[in-house]
Amino acid sequence: MPASNTSLRVLADADVIAQLRALRTKQPVRFTAFYSSQLGGIVTDPALMVIPFDDHMVHRGHGIFDTAGIVNGRIYDLDAHLGRFLKSAERSKLKLPGTRDDMRDIIIKTAAASGLKNGSIRYWLSSGPGNLDLMPVAAAEPGFFVMIFPGLVYPEKWKTEGVRVMTTTYPIKPPLYAITKTTNYLPNVLMQMEAKEKGFDNGVFIDHDGHVGESSNMNVAFVSHENVLVHPKFDHILSGCTSLRLLELAQKLVKSGQLTDVRVSDITMKEAVAAKEMLLIGSSVKVAGIVQWDSHTIGNGKPGPVSRALLQLLEEDMRSGDRLIDVPY
Ligand SMILES: Cc1ncc(COP(=O)(O)O)c(C=O)c1O
Repeated sequence: MPASNTSLRVLADADVIAQLRALRTKQPVRFTAFYSSQLGGIVTDPALMVIPFDDHMVHRGHGIFDTAGIVNGRIYDLDAHLGRFLKSAERSKLKLPGTRDDMRDIIIKTAAASGLKNGSIRYWLSSGPGNLDLMPVAAAEPGFFVMIFPGLVYPEKWKTEGVRVMTTTYPIKPPLYAITKTTNYLPNVLMQMEAKEKGFDNGVFIDHDGHVGESSNMNVAFVSHENVLVHPKFDHILSGCTSLRLLELAQKLVKSGQLTDVRVSDITMKEAVAAKEMLLIGSSVKVAGIVQWDSHTIGNGKPGPVSRALLQLLEEDMRSGDRLIDVPY
């Protein structure tokens, strides 16, 4: 911000571009390609990856998003992520900028323009710009944006030593907002900040009936003493694409005898902390073992064998499964 004793200039177009570039040198990012329906194409200069301030996604949170991974030059499980995106759009009363196939095509082409072989694709749908009201402007075009970036990175020790979580003091979102992937992540952000402030890695939401919910941007699951993989019901948390896929892949562990069953049901915190293993699951973290929850040690305090086996199954599926799309670089 300019000091209060300097005069405020009215900027020319070139000043704005220069300032946007300067911002990026101060806050380096590795965003490699960005599509915007408002710009009408793809840009690769991060300084130009912008959204108008009056877009209702910015000032009212009237927008949704989703994230899929790029693994060895292929997009993993995009159709599941797009399916969830469309459900979120419908619940949020957002108009679509085109067909599902149009959006899928734009996502794949933006990934190709990025040249990135391993990373993440995040895409958003907004109700569009036009005013600072609540209702979308009658003639507003929905905004569709796609960003290609290296993906979220977690500490290596999450894998080797496991993750430590706390029960958040922040209330869980009401079910409608929890199952919809909107840009309103304030409770999730506050939960993660609170956990870091208190020396934990992340938090866990508990619902009003005392049932386990989810973490900030990840699901949680458990392995009971009877070797049952138990996942919370998806009616009050986000339907994680990774969790849903792992619930299918885990059948292989039932066949091999490592698990006796796979179940989706309500889990009380008392049952949960007594589990043999607790898992953190999501597109960014994949599968990590949770070894401590509040003051409770989970299992023997080390990431367990089911967490390792599920990570292996997931990585195999990402390398050579049937849910991969080749990126036409
Ligand atoms: C709140 C929340 N729960 C769970 C997940 C895990 O979902 P996925 O496996 O699709 O990444 C995410 C990630 O998007 C999330 O934001």
